Amino acid sequence: MYRQINNNRTKEGISNMREFNVKPTILYGINALDSIREKHYKKACIVTDQTILKLGLLEPLTQVLKDNGTLYEIFDEVVPDTTSAVVEKGLLHIIHSKPDVVFAIGGGSSIDTAKAVIYYFQQLKETFMSKDVIIKPELVAIPTTAGTGSEVTEYAVVTDSKTGVKIPLTSKVMLPDQAILDPRFTVSAPNFITADTGLDTLTHALEAYVSKEANDFSDSYALKAITLIYEHLVPSFKDGSDLFRREKLQIASTMAGIAFNNSALGITHSLAHAIGSRFHLAHGKCNAILMPTVMEFNMGDDYARKRYSEIAKHLGFHFEDDQVSSIALMESVKLLRKKLEVPSSLLEAGLTRNEVIDSLDDLTATAMKDFCTKGNPRTPNERDLRGILLSLL
Ligand SMILES: [Fe+2]
Repeated sequence: MYRQINNNRTKEGISNMREFNVKPTILYGINALDSIREKHYKKACIVTDQTILKLGLLEPLTQVLKDNGTLYEIFDEVVPDTTSAVVEKGLLHIIHSKPDVVFAIGGGSSIDTAKAVIYYFQQLKETFMSKDVIIKPELVAIPTTAGTGSEVTEYAVVTDSKTGVKIPLTSKVMLPDQAILDPRFTVSAPNFITADTGLDTLTHALEAYVSKEANDFSDSYALKAITLIYEHLVPSFKDGSDLFRREKLQIASTMAGIAFNNSALGITHSLAHAIGSRFHLAHGKCNAILMPTVMEFNMGDDYARKRYSEIAKHLGFHFEDDQVSSIALMESVKLLRKKLEVPSSLLEAGLTRNEVIDSLDDLTATAMKDFCTKGNPRTPNERDLRGILLSLL
């Protein structure tokens, strides 16, 4: 996330140099996949899951590879919330097939799996070989959902197969070299996936904007992503065949990814990670349930209230008072969630009161330790997180 490289007094005076990353190259629009025709890879490895395979979404990619005479192998064992066991298998696959390019095609899990495989591949080679002989395959991310922004971030989340704990990986080595946003790949997503992933995008942008690590660069990406979500998510939920809107949602997802990669996320994500791994509830759904309640908690902080108010004004909610503007923004998120037919509480999402109460201690402890918690504008304690969880029942 956003790094303050040097905030120390130097010989020349105080330095507050910071860093903003703009990798990878982004190719977007209908038929953006054709950009691969200009590349002449020798051997490709495709990382994906069974659903993408069954939907026939690999065919446009494999056709281009065949036309170009590129040999390819497919690793199709990715599962939702990718696990360390899957990453291990993927790593062996890469070591055996020695590709010069890895295509990650699918939702966040496929892209995170490929990123984690590249991460461990690099670690392995650096441990056992001289740096000169390390040939890292190029990584090309082709998202088939508009939500995670994983195609432009240096993060991957892998679930430990033995403990069920989510392991966050962070390294620039995982930043894809190219992100191909071809809206044809997202058309087959059912409307509930469009809703969940779109609300994940909105959470990324909102959390990146109100984080204390936000900066002028990340702000511009976050605000544009929010505008695009408010304009195109509900119509796309109602009619998923509109390629123009699908393209806009892909762009929003990528922009929100750039925003949080260079700012931070907050406790909506910390709690969503904890709830998601405990109850196997979709990540975007968890975020959507949590978001308004977390906003209400954050409004207790002057800075966060001012930042929510700026977003509200950007969306056209003109109120003088920051508190009123922030409440208007929160109510608009609730309305958006309702229009997208997403549950507004954990009970509505199918959990029972008892199972949530029985897990309260674990959920709060896990969320407190989550790497996103430190990015939140208002520092929570365990009692705060318990309060948020209880109000979701
Ligand atoms: Fe997310």
